[in-house]
Amino acid sequence: MAGKDHYYNKAKQEGYRSRAAYKLKQLDNLEHVLDRGETVVDLGAAPGGWLEVAAEEVGPQGNVIGVDFQRIKDFEDHDNVETLRGDMTEAKTRDRVIDAADGSVDAVISDMAPNMSGEYSLDQARSLHLARQAFETSLELLDSGGDFVVKVFEGPDVDDFRADVEEEFQYVRATSPKASRDESSEIYLIGKGRLTAPVRPGDELEVEIVDVGSEGDGIASVEGYRLFVPGTEVGETVAVCVEDMKPNFGFAQRLDRD
Ligand SMILES: C[S@@+](CC[C@H](N)C(=O)[O-])C[C@H]1O[C@@H](n2cnc3c(N)ncnc32)[C@H](O)[C@@H]1O
Repeated sequence: MAGKDHYYNKAKQEGYRSRAAYKLKQLDNLEHVLDRGETVVDLGAAPGGWLEVAAEEVGPQGNVIGVDFQRIKDFEDHDNVETLRGDMTEAKTRDRVIDAADGSVDAVISDMAPNMSGEYSLDQARSLHLARQAFETSLELLDSGGDFVVKVFEGPDVDDFRADVEEEFQYVRATSPKASRDESSEIYLIGKGRLTAPVRPGDELEVEIVDVGSEGDGIASVEGYRLFVPGTEVGETVAVCVEDMKPNFGFAQRLDRD
């Protein structure tokens, strides 16, 4: 059913500016990306359904910054939303978003979509370009542990894009929310837990064990990032391979023992 479907009617009844609001609700239910008091940056935010959902979820102590090249009407019900008008493919807009965020950002969410030409391969390539712009912005803005949501049309090079996002987040989930139209080829990637550590899984390096954890594992510090290394003692210098990573600490195996 095109046009005035279930989510369109629901948005009208419940007072959201767009049916897209339900996509963000479903994505948030799945992976919990919005929380009280957080700062959220919403890219491609007009007319503002996602902004309304984000403003509700972060509450009055939180902040939501929305950007779009279309004008976004002011919100009467939410005074924790700020909007900017600009093109996210331009560096000057990204700089304005960074200024508006003024420091710590907990989530970057992007529903940006190109104007449809009707030629799928062109629209898909444009969608991927916008998704990559959103990804670059998320890397500039997000604190360690922050989350990223991005829309992209399925097609060539999405696997490569996903692999790039996986490098920078603890894990990535791809999903199509129910509120996406059945015929839609859009998917959303959710990157959970921005990794800002100086190492990545698979890295091999030499570390000095400087502390011991409550479970008895040795702890090395790599530029302030803590790596737990089982079977080591304080004072040892060991070659290790990084295995699993959380935003604030990780696990490594020593390489000189089986
Ligand atoms: C699907 S709509 C977003 C709907 C929105 N999430 C909501 O809940 O109301 C996609 C938006 O992306 C915006 N957009 C596309 N390319 C953009 C760009 N380069 N910079 C800023 N916004 C862009 C479009 O203007 C459009 O408003």
